[in-house]
Amino acid sequence: MPKVLLCPPTAFDVVYSINPWMCGESVNKRLAMAQWLRMEDVFRQWGVSVQVIDQEQDLPDMVFTANAGTVRGNKVVLSNFKFPERQRETEAYEKWFKDAGYETYRLPKKYNFEGCGDTVVHEGKMFAGYGWRSDLGGIRRAAKILDLELIPLKLSHPNFYHLDTCFCLLGRSTAMYYPGAFSPSALKKLRQHIPDLIPLDVTDATMFACNSVVYGNKVLMPSGPQKIVHELDIRGYEVTQLNTSEFLKSGGSLQCMTLWI
Ligand code: ARG
Repeated sequence: MPKVLLCPPTAFDVVYSINPWMCGESVNKRLAMAQWLRMEDVFRQWGVSVQVIDQEQDLPDMVFTANAGTVRGNKVVLSNFKFPERQRETEAYEKWFKDAGYETYRLPKKYNFEGCGDTVVHEGKMFAGYGWRSDLGGIRRAAKILDLELIPLKLSHPNFYHLDTCFCLLGRSTAMYYPGAFSPSALKKLRQHIPDLIPLDVTDATMFACNSVVYGNKVLMPSGPQKIVHELDIRGYEVTQLNTSEFLKSGGSLQCMTLWI
């Protein structure tokens, strides 16, 4: 049974700013919990096993479990967060993974690496964004530990600071992406590796369409985007949209809150 790691937002808030979306808009905590529970419910309906980690009271961004690390089989490369505000999350995640029987790896301190916020592992390859949060050294090391072919993708737009805000793999040969978030050489690499690349316009991209969770032909997407839903529809995907307004205030949505383990 496929498994995801989620973190219920018992202490979620926006109290600092480490990305352009975090402008101090106050979070409705009850609404955040209700939105999270709806997401969890979708995973259960899909037949996905939901594992949870408790949120530490002083780590408001810990709900974004995609940033815990990158998992392949029984191995996890833990994140080295760029900003001090999130660095202590690594200990909490390390403990969770160790207790669950995973082999955990830490990278040397000089590298930054933010796990599945910046990486997508698929059939022996690791697509990895770098430039804002993860750096080239970090993604190189992680790919090596996990024995994956690295496809480094330089990110160029500050609003799309993690790969999962501008790229979403939908299957072996299909992905949606926001071209405005990548350097010219990254765009070239994407075209080389993915035959059916569906570009998003800035409107859908800004509503975080790429921050969707994919399971077979099912796509769980933040509410708002419309054009891309039509594109996915004609390709046979079943899209469910959920309102994640409270988490968007922190610059995150559904994919950021999900880690396949
Ligand atoms: N406020 C969080 C941060 O800036 C949001 C993280 C979103 N996570 C993601 N995988 N994109 O780190």
